[in-house]
Amino acid sequence: MWEELEGKFQEALEALKQVQDEAALEAWRVRYLGRKSPIMQAFSRLKEVPREQRPQVGRRINEMRDRLTEAYEARKQALEQEKLQRALQETLDVTLPGRPATPGRFHPSTRTIRRILRIFAEMGFQVFTSREVELDEYNFQLLNIPPHHPARDMQDTFYVDVDGDGETYPVLLRTHTSPGQIHAMRFYASLNPEDPPPIRVVLPGMCFRYEQITARSEIQFTQIEGLVVGRQVRFSDLKGTLTDWARRMFGPQVRTRFRASHFPFTEPSAEMDVECFLCQGKGCSVCKYTGWLEILGCGMVHPTVLKNGGYDPEKYTGFAFGMGPERITMLLHHIQDIRFFWSNDIRLLRQFD
Ligand code: DAH
Repeated sequence: MWEELEGKFQEALEALKQVQDEAALEAWRVRYLGRKSPIMQAFSRLKEVPREQRPQVGRRINEMRDRLTEAYEARKQALEQEKLQRALQETLDVTLPGRPATPGRFHPSTRTIRRILRIFAEMGFQVFTSREVELDEYNFQLLNIPPHHPARDMQDTFYVDVDGDGETYPVLLRTHTSPGQIHAMRFYASLNPEDPPPIRVVLPGMCFRYEQITARSEIQFTQIEGLVVGRQVRFSDLKGTLTDWARRMFGPQVRTRFRASHFPFTEPSAEMDVECFLCQGKGCSVCKYTGWLEILGCGMVHPTVLKNGGYDPEKYTGFAFGMGPERITMLLHHIQDIRFFWSNDIRLLRQFD
């Protein structure tokens, strides 16, 4: 009987190797480790063994049961692993190369706009945005732009008629961010019409002009407008603020100069140049050998414009400025053609990390 038991033990180990699934494994367990299995039965037949041999035989049966239990656990784990591997292989080929994650980037214009705005934010300016679709009134009339002004030409402005409530409203796509000056002043004045608060805002946004697209002009571009209104705001504040901005933007050594100019909404008006940061003023093709780059238009807010915004020109003064982020980006990065900005060529966009 004991040889037979050893035989069953070997048979069990062999049989376990053939087990390929959970059902077979369970059948194996019942057969070789279950209550009626030869090994378990052997425990109850231990009393048939002569007394002196009992401890030795008992130990051997224990040993066989433990070996079989271990082998059973090991096989069970191996089967589970195999099953998992099979499931993974069916759903996922782990040998495929991974897909690289491509990070998004900011558009070069957005980068320049953010840089410009950050500097103004450090100087205490708030961002004020207004609509891209405007009324003629805001885009021209309230800014003191006379009816015969060439900018109002059908050739220069996108005029659109929009229908609403059974009526047709003539609107236009703003040609500059300056109408935002009126919106900002009217907003702040509405907070306290008797004694309107001082204003220090920058107004970024998209502008549109009905123009021939060339390397130097686009029908769509961004601008950043600035507006400061308060009591005793002077031209020296304008010069100081913009010169400080230019140093933070282009480098602490950069020099600026102001040239007299004309805009209907400012009086006096000026244009600010910065010393060419590509040749340090020595003269190069970018600055057309003048040593200077024209960066923005500016001036003291015209009294009529202050009045249109709800600020009494007898009590308040202000300055304003307007600049083109695409032009500044072109100068900073030697971009030769403004059409690159909206042509969405990934090769250009990729260069700005
Ligand atoms: N609106 C002008 C333009 O589009 C730019 C400009 C010039 C804005 C002078 C200003 C300013 O606020 O004071 O060309």
